[in-house]
Amino acid sequence: MFDVVVLASGRGSNFAALIAAQHRGELPIRIRALLSDKRTAPALLLAENAGVEAVALAPREFADRASFDRTLFARAAEFAPDLIVLAGYMRVIDSAVIEAWRGKVINIHPSLLPKYPGLHTHARALEAGDAVHGASVHFVTAELDGGPVISQVELPVLAGDTPELLAERLLHLEHQLLVATVGVIARGRVTLRARAVQYDGHALVKPLRLEDIQQGASTLAGT
Ligand code: GRF
Repeated sequence: MFDVVVLASGRGSNFAALIAAQHRGELPIRIRALLSDKRTAPALLLAENAGVEAVALAPREFADRASFDRTLFARAAEFAPDLIVLAGYMRVIDSAVIEAWRGKVINIHPSLLPKYPGLHTHARALEAGDAVHGASVHFVTAELDGGPVISQVELPVLAGDTPELLAERLLHLEHQLLVATVGVIARGRVTLRARAVQYDGHALVKPLRLEDIQQGASTLAGT
């Protein structure tokens, strides 16, 4: 079985989407644990209610970022995960720790990367006058929101959109994108080799689109 550990700092709706998809039998994965850097994160309760082990560690109880991250990832390693999913995990991870897990950690980010790494992505898309916004799932590297992009979903910006409205509409698509992307990774179709995302053994020339993953497309890869 393909074992997954999820890291979340807050609400946990992306985590909940993974749990729901797993329960529907859509994902060939076992969600082993939910780890959080916030003791009050609602995601922890979601985990407990779903019978998933919930672990919270407080960064302020550690000397520095590196020792917190080493401990957090050592806890994750106890579950022998094939994949670690950052789903609304709001801390930057120490570069030495993350590089040791290269190709095994993915993150969902609410923008069409490489546009708008970091925070306030919806407001920044609106300020820029973008006609299209979206979300990305990428492999995590030491560069903040800068690792190789696996998949994306697009969303039209509508007249009258606010950051809140945009965030809410996008969130539903994020859930689908994360579930679909974890699915192709768990089925062994997507891997990371050097800086290139491999899809069915070929380097991707552009990110997978949600629609293509859902249709099971097999003609997206090129070299
Ligand atoms: C999502 O928008 C995700 O893309 C971003 O943080 C938010 C987390 O939402 N990184 P949730 O905790 O999964 O509900």
